[in-house]
Amino acid sequence: MSFDKHILITGGAGFIGSHVVRRMLIQYPNYLVVNLDALTYAGNLENLRDMEDLPNYRFVKGNICDAALVTTLFEENQIDTVIHLAAESHVDRSITDPLAFVQTNVMGTATLLNAARQYWGGDYAGKLFYHVSTDEVYGSLGETGFFYEDTAYDPRSPYSASKAGSDHLVMAFFHTYHLPVIISNCSNNYGPNHFPEKLIPLSIHNILQKKPLPIYGKGENVRDWLYVIDHASAIDTILHRGKIGETYNIGGHNEWTNIDLIRLLCRLMDEKLGQDTGSSEQLITYVKDRAGHDLRYAIDATKLKDELGWVPSVTFEEGLSRTIDWYLANPEWLAHVTSGDYLNYYEAQYSRR
Ligand code: NAD
Ligand code: DAU
Repeated sequence: MSFDKHILITGGAGFIGSHVVRRMLIQYPNYLVVNLDALTYAGNLENLRDMEDLPNYRFVKGNICDAALVTTLFEENQIDTVIHLAAESHVDRSITDPLAFVQTNVMGTATLLNAARQYWGGDYAGKLFYHVSTDEVYGSLGETGFFYEDTAYDPRSPYSASKAGSDHLVMAFFHTYHLPVIISNCSNNYGPNHFPEKLIPLSIHNILQKKPLPIYGKGENVRDWLYVIDHASAIDTILHRGKIGETYNIGGHNEWTNIDLIRLLCRLMDEKLGQDTGSSEQLITYVKDRAGHDLRYAIDATKLKDELGWVPSVTFEEGLSRTIDWYLANPEWLAHVTSGDYLNYYEAQYSRR
């Protein structure tokens, strides 16, 4: 079978990666998709169960830091495009185990870049290394202002510093070797398949379990939320129409303080569960703040809109409602990922507070 593109997607068994794999397989049956994922605690093949038998899909369990494996995958699959999402992604975990973040996010990205450079050997026609990054590299905003593509990097957690390091390596390979690269920096995602260590799925899970909803500090920190399926559509747009060497911010102009967001979530959950209004809110519990907690993130995505015509497809209420519906319809998914190691993590993370 011949394919129009041979894409290596890293981290495709994770939250965002699985939506990107799904989108590529459905929209482009003429593309080969090779999904390389180490299946850490955050990787879950259940996310792609219905895609497994497609003739243009291959899954490989492996580590992006394994240079020999990565090189073999380029050669065996004639990879011409990389969409790199594999990462350690949770800020709280980076505070307890920073070196794991440096290893995967910095060394893993360097390994992939080097393999692409060597395999493509300077013949860059039709090639692309697309690096998926975060708005956290820009640091923390005050009460006003936005992150633009030319905002200076100012990462403040081991997670964001390791992602900033990976972004710098990507641009270094562009400037030094002319490797064809694109970076996108996206705001907070939410949606189906989100691992319940992050605020929204953790809160959905805890409401279902009638457990406390831990709010760090005063709940006044602001995040800018985007539905994961819209992130996947933005990646698709940038992959096909973005300019080599450029960075694109992705976001939906959708800022919420954590406490307002959790109140909205509680209201929607009460409605959907047929509970008295206010039942879920009673679970809100203020806990010790995250160390170095960034105050506010807010993305300006005008470049993506003006140059490539991308805008989000759903409002926040609609996306959040769909997300809750997905969790209510998939109790086994939640049960599977909240057993085993997750319980140890949860105990360690929240018992100290
Ligand atoms: P995730 O933690 O849900 O998934 C990460 C995936 O990478 C998992 O499947 C895991 O098994 C895999 N992985 C981890 N280490 C690996 C390694 N060494 N080798 C191979 N695979 C490995 O993360 P996510 O939330 O889906 O984020 C995906 C990417 O998007 C990350 O690069 C993250 O920095 C970025 N991002 C995330 C958000 C967000 O809100 N979640 C926002 C902007 C950007
Ligand atoms: O901005 C993009 C980033 O968004 C991504 O790069 C990261 O991979 C992703 O994890 C996310 O980082 P955050 O730290 O913003 O997400 P998290 O869901 O962990 O926290 C969202 C906010 O909620 C943050 O202000 C911390 C707060 N919070 C979080 C948890 C887990 C709580 O108040 N209580 C909690 O229990």
